[in-house]
Amino acid sequence: MATACVTGASSGIGRSFAEQLAARGHDLIVTGRRLEKLEELERDLAERYGVTTEIRLLELSDRNALEVFATELANRDDLVYLVNNAGYGRGESFTEDGFSEHERMLAVHVTAPMRLAHAVAPVMKNAGAGAIINVSSLASLLASRSSLMYCATKACLNSFSESLALELEPHGVRVQLLLPGFTHTEFHRDSDLYPGKKRNRFLLRWMPAPQVVRLSLRDLDRGRTICVPGTANKLLQLLTRLVPRRLRNRLSSRGISSAFFVEPPAELSPADAETGIGTETGPELSDSRGVSAPQDHTGDQS
Ligand SMILES: NC(=O)c1ccc[n+]([C@@H]2O[C@H](COP(=O)([O-])OP(=O)(O)OC[C@H]3O[C@@H](n4cnc5c(N)ncnc54)[C@H](OP(=O)(O)O)[C@@H]3O)[C@@H](O)[C@H]2O)c1
Repeated sequence: MATACVTGASSGIGRSFAEQLAARGHDLIVTGRRLEKLEELERDLAERYGVTTEIRLLELSDRNALEVFATELANRDDLVYLVNNAGYGRGESFTEDGFSEHERMLAVHVTAPMRLAHAVAPVMKNAGAGAIINVSSLASLLASRSSLMYCATKACLNSFSESLALELEPHGVRVQLLLPGFTHTEFHRDSDLYPGKKRNRFLLRWMPAPQVVRLSLRDLDRGRTICVPGTANKLLQLLTRLVPRRLRNRLSSRGISSAFFVEPPAELSPADAETGIGTETGPELSDSRGVSAPQDHTGDQS
């Protein structure tokens, strides 16, 4: 049976991808760092859809573990989907944080998706079929001083995905860049920076993860390279194009849009509140798991 690989499938958008691809009849290879969540997913998918799920416990910023996993995928000729979904946000100060923190985000959001795509693309190309979905964020279209590396790494993923689509689509391999907006997942579970953050405001509309994934797969079936799920998110994307970049960044640095988008609580410093349009990334600020440096991993564990 054709197999789908989803990174970061232990919760949120990745879990929904695993469920919806299983519903389409695919066996799965899923990654994450929380074994119990992945085992629960495995049981659930077997019961509901009768598919087989292989679990790989993987810290994606661990270069050696990534290499082992990439080599494994390069040898799987049954792979028809790669969903590069794993990601995280954290409160950032580019200058005050150690560079190792920035390198870690770069590894998870950029190196890992590129390495895995590099592993599977030749196989898919030879087969003349397959799909790679890279999960970025609407935040990638913005500048933000408080989510600098998040926006920068996701923006890099955007450019990579669109270029990869140009290379692979003539060979029958589809590539999708998925740009979700606010989505109900575990991403924000430890984020108490903005008490009002989960309320819909103007164009900021929270979406359930299964809906984001349904729209992504629908757009993939329709051959669309870029998927911005939901009308409000599409309008936001349009706004980022229409507002001149200088003005947008100025608004962002003055925090004007935070008045519309997010209520900065009193205890936040003015600098914290000045994320402006970049407050689209506000709820994505904290590391949802508070996970620090790469820990022990098993690159190839079922
Ligand atoms: N939620 C939103 O509002 C939103 C908006 C735009 C874009 N996104 C993007 O959507 C993607 C999925 O996030 P989500 O919202 O579904 O969050 P989530 O529920 O927190 O899921 C994140 C997944 O990524 C995995 N992961 C995180 N860091 C990892 C690392 N260093 N190594 C290996 N796996 C790691 C987690 O695995 P473990 O927990 O098991 O370690 C988990 O399975 C991310 O790329 C995020 O940037 C989310």
